[in-house]
Amino acid sequence: MKFFIDTANLQHIREAQDLGILDGVTTNPSLMAKEGITGHDNILKHYQAICEIADGDVSAEVISTDFEGMVREGEALAALHENIVVKIPMIKDGIKALKHFSSKGIKTNCTLIFNAGQALMAAKAGATYVSPFIGRLDDISFDGMDLIAQIVHIYQNYGIKTQVLAASVRNNLHIVKCAEAGADVITAPLSAITGLLKHPLTDIGLAQFLADHAKGNS
Ligand code: G3P
Repeated sequence: MKFFIDTANLQHIREAQDLGILDGVTTNPSLMAKEGITGHDNILKHYQAICEIADGDVSAEVISTDFEGMVREGEALAALHENIVVKIPMIKDGIKALKHFSSKGIKTNCTLIFNAGQALMAAKAGATYVSPFIGRLDDISFDGMDLIAQIVHIYQNYGIKTQVLAASVRNNLHIVKCAEAGADVITAPLSAITGLLKHPLTDIGLAQFLADHAKGNS
């Protein structure tokens, strides 16, 4: 399972990259705004900065909601760096845009997926990734993890190449459950990724090992 970081925070991206486990980055307009990145040129520069730090695919989202606008924006984003993946919302014109980019060999990530039918449509249109949102489904009392398992199952039935990129991942348990369900990729904030490292018995055990070593060498 690939690990992407879901942020526009350059320090967090650097930290995950330095760990040596980072496979890519996802962003969205809300994450860019959270870092105070506004204005067309600044946003493009920020994507370039992210591509310079991180190895692997970097999802950059279009703002347009019409086919022509998405194509224009997506082509400009794709021209920024070879690792850019054009992120397209799950709407009718988005399907046309996914088809357009897939026929040109430009990678895409279809975002805001909340049911299996949407995931099937995005795959039919040739999306490289689909992003089902786990946390936001959990928020409204639907089990987001059921959706991940359902999409994985459907894609396996037909040998569909579109990768299931589990998004809106909020904690380390979500990551473990995604691995059980067979997601191809998770994208998560740094806190959820580093949360995987933690166990109190690890801390207690290490403290004991170091204390015993110190006793034996004093
Ligand atoms: O990857 C999508 C993600 O950024 C949304 O997360 O926590 O706002 O639902 P969240």
